[in-house]
Amino acid sequence: MTSQLAASARGLTKSFGRGDTVVHALRGVDLDLPAGRFTAIMGPSGSGKSTLMHCLAGLDQPTSGSVHVAGQALESLGDDALTRFRRDNVGFVFQAFNLLPMLTAEQNIWLPTELAGRDRDPALQRRFVAIVETLGLAQRLGHRPAELSGGQQQRVAIARALLAGPAIVFADEPTGNLDSTSSAEVLSLLRQSVRELGQTVVMVTHEIEAARYADDIVVLADGRITERREVAA
Ligand SMILES: Nc1ncnc2c1ncn2[C@@H]1O[C@H](COP(=O)(O)OP(=O)(O)O)[C@@H](O)[C@H]1O
Ligand SMILES: [Mg+2]
Repeated sequence: MTSQLAASARGLTKSFGRGDTVVHALRGVDLDLPAGRFTAIMGPSGSGKSTLMHCLAGLDQPTSGSVHVAGQALESLGDDALTRFRRDNVGFVFQAFNLLPMLTAEQNIWLPTELAGRDRDPALQRRFVAIVETLGLAQRLGHRPAELSGGQQQRVAIARALLAGPAIVFADEPTGNLDSTSSAEVLSLLRQSVRELGQTVVMVTHEIEAARYADDIVVLADGRITERREVAA
């Protein structure tokens, strides 16, 4: 028995459009994402990084191939079951934060768990406190996004993705809109969530400095994995 997998893909292909205008975004991807590790996905613009993340997260359907998350085959779930499964098992951090402007940081962080109809039981409340402390957001909970720096907004988005205790968190260029100080802050927090909360994190980046925070680097080119290596300690 090898180490436990948070997610895996086999023979994944994804094409957009048809005929003359067809784009083959993924051309047969096999990938294992071990639990409790931080994986960086790198590659040039248009190489299929976002498409791969969306297929792994159940946000988009592959053209062929299969995806397992936390032992569940996504292709065997209907729409409603997939939505529920994603809510309980997958966190997604978008490049543009996607926070709701009228809500405070605290309300933003709780929103998905509330939409999922989950009680704020003591265990979830303790997890909230631990995440907020780890991410250094305790003093910012009453602020609205406009009153926070880019780095702080992205930390709120990460806290929101972590709260439900997902099997895996995907972050698509989470530092793409940040200055270098805020980027370093966000990357060390993702690193910390792996080390201290045992989180599995998959992050897309095109910056090698960002990828150095990860345990493993997977390189994508033209819809295929061309390289996989461990980051030297
Ligand atoms: N919704 C879509 N419709 C048509 N083509 C798309 C769509 N999404 C992505 N593509 C194409 O698929 C390829 C891979 O895109 P993407 O996964 O976004 O790459 P990356 O994230 O590595 O920049 C690109 O050629 C892109 O134009
Ligand atoms: Mg992308």
